[in-house]
Amino acid sequence: MKKKVLITAGPTYEAIDPVRFIGNRSSGKMGIDIANTFVDENYDVVLVLGPTSLKGLINTYRNIKVIDVESAQQMYEACLQHLDADIIIGAAAVADYKVAHYSEEKMKKTDDLTLLLERNVDILFEIGKIKKENQILVGFALETSNLIEYAKGKIAKKNLDIIVANYASAMNGDKNQITLINKNDLDNPVEHPEAYKFINAATIYKYITNYESTYITSPKAV
Ligand code: CTP
Repeated sequence: MKKKVLITAGPTYEAIDPVRFIGNRSSGKMGIDIANTFVDENYDVVLVLGPTSLKGLINTYRNIKVIDVESAQQMYEACLQHLDADIIIGAAAVADYKVAHYSEEKMKKTDDLTLLLERNVDILFEIGKIKKENQILVGFALETSNLIEYAKGKIAKKNLDIIVANYASAMNGDKNQITLINKNDLDNPVEHPEAYKFINAATIYKYITNYESTYITSPKAV
């Protein structure tokens, strides 16, 4: 039976009114490149994708199930339908906040405007709470400083197996510089030189499958 991978990618848009939203600069490229890599390796791939102009990069020769979403809540609900995946990869830049009071009507100008924001669901954190024993959960850390320290903290906080750490300068570009860390080998982050995201997608694939054969599928010692 084919193995299944669930990938989130792209930004989320949190609507303020019918024409305005809060978003971020994520292009979705890293997640799309990961989806293309896994489908080439014969996985069943589900890609839950926020708004992006890069849908044309999705490998259409093979069957990637793409679920288009806009908000973090929609992304979360789409993920809940696919929690039977063997591997779950959170590559999306999920908005941490949404507006507390959505306006059904287009808001009219005033002098100053204060928007009350409330926390969004943390998708990976919620999945981490109900993760199955043999499931591999992979997160991304995007920071402007203290990258490795913050990345390791996220492994613990979200019950991740692996984290892909990269600097925020990677957002919306064709290249990034990734460091891979797994929960069983926290003292040995594996740093890679800057490379195109499709190259890094292959690197991430290899790291995950190597982790799987080392810690998940290897026979237990008796
Ligand atoms: N993530 C998620 N749901 C959210 C926020 C983040 O699933 N609401 C996932 C991202 O897809 C990514 C990882 O969690 O894999 C990033 O962790 P996060 O806590 O968002 O990092 P920061 O937002 O940078 O955390 P902080 O604001 O605390 O620095």
